[in-house]
Amino acid sequence: MRAIKIEGNKKLSGTIKISGAKNSSVALLPASLLADSDVTICNVPEITDTDVLCDMLEYLGADVRRASESVVISQDKVENRVLPKDFTKRLRASYYFMGALLGKLKHVEIYLPGGCSIGARPIDLHLKGFESLGATITNEGEKYIVDAKELKGAHIYLDIASVGATINIMLAAVLAKGKTIIDNAAKEPEIVNIATFLNNMGAKITGAGTSEIRIVGVEHLHGCYHEVIPDRIEAGTYIIIGALVGKNLKVYNVIPEHVEALTSKLQEMGVDLEIGSDYITVNSKDEYKPANVKTMVYPGFPTDLQQPFSVLAAKCNGITKVEETIWENRFMHLAELEKLGMKIEREGMTAKFTGPSKLIGTTVVATDLRAGAAMVVAGLFARGSTTITNIEHILRGYEGIVEKLTDVGAKIELIEI
Ligand code: UD1
Repeated sequence: MRAIKIEGNKKLSGTIKISGAKNSSVALLPASLLADSDVTICNVPEITDTDVLCDMLEYLGADVRRASESVVISQDKVENRVLPKDFTKRLRASYYFMGALLGKLKHVEIYLPGGCSIGARPIDLHLKGFESLGATITNEGEKYIVDAKELKGAHIYLDIASVGATINIMLAAVLAKGKTIIDNAAKEPEIVNIATFLNNMGAKITGAGTSEIRIVGVEHLHGCYHEVIPDRIEAGTYIIIGALVGKNLKVYNVIPEHVEALTSKLQEMGVDLEIGSDYITVNSKDEYKPANVKTMVYPGFPTDLQQPFSVLAAKCNGITKVEETIWENRFMHLAELEKLGMKIEREGMTAKFTGPSKLIGTTVVATDLRAGAAMVVAGLFARGSTTITNIEHILRGYEGIVEKLTDVGAKIELIEI
């Protein structure tokens, strides 16, 4: 079994370049099927989630040419095939094949998606959206069959501003007849990135990034060239690391506005940040003011940074409160942080950390992707040696994490145990 071993408490200096956003790439790859000619996507991170999606595209008959971070996809030989569990269970975002294949071929057969066990993760809003566009949905155990003679634009109100449902409905609606309105749409930057991609292919989408997205259906979409935006969650993770052990640690290729919920919270706590046009430099201090954080949809504090952020409480003098409002099972990292020496009390979906606390390395488990990121953050701060197991979760989402951290002076390695 592979594990990550870290000798912690070393100052990190230098520059870390942020990769393309995982949560954009995982939608862009399936969305490429909607075009009629070659699509080139640049800055696709080399992580296992994008590897699996490329395999799924090939399984459907697409020709996928990947050279480092750019992927060229030709879809002329794509056929409608059942997307089996072996693929779909490996990541949550496999559900974007629903919207893309429904939009393109008006029929999709797919098994339920997998992904981190951070909550129930239903897809009812995606399915309601497809039904509003005229699709019928049949369930055969874990398999969904979504079919439409024709897709027609509709006014769809999302009960929850779901990222996945907003994107999936956009994918199904771009080739539908007439006008679709998605009300209470999610506003995450990844949604704007996907809408820009679809518009580059000839779609007519306005309002992405606001709570009302309007789509006028078109007959065809053509190939295009597109760049993935920088990963704001990866950037946030390294900025948090900088606040703990950074010495002029420059996090580069960032859109600072995308991480503002984090940086303004860090500034409130007293973290020394220099915010440039496309970089953020962090210098750690010995102690910070405690803070309260509540996860919210964008532009609020991202749930995906809640777990890495929690580690900062170890440097705060007093009680730091972290409330999770999006995922009901996103506190699995707490038990692991306690093993490292953090003092934590949990009341429902609020965790109270009493700091400061000395962290001492030990063996911990990456229970999910961002919990795994929190273990890396904690291991870099802790004294002594930390071994993280279940690292497949981490490698799903962080491109070259061991190399990037080694380059700025961390003692971190992949080991076999
Ligand atoms: C995406 C991100 C994930 C992030 C999350 C919230 C990807 C691949 N993943 O996940 O990293 O944590 O946004 O920012 O982009 N819900 C329903 N019914 C649905 C859909 C969602 O009840 O049909 C609920 C979910 O259970 C959750 C909330 O809505 O409580 C938000 O989920 P959603 O925004 O859809 O998250 P994902 O798109 O799965």
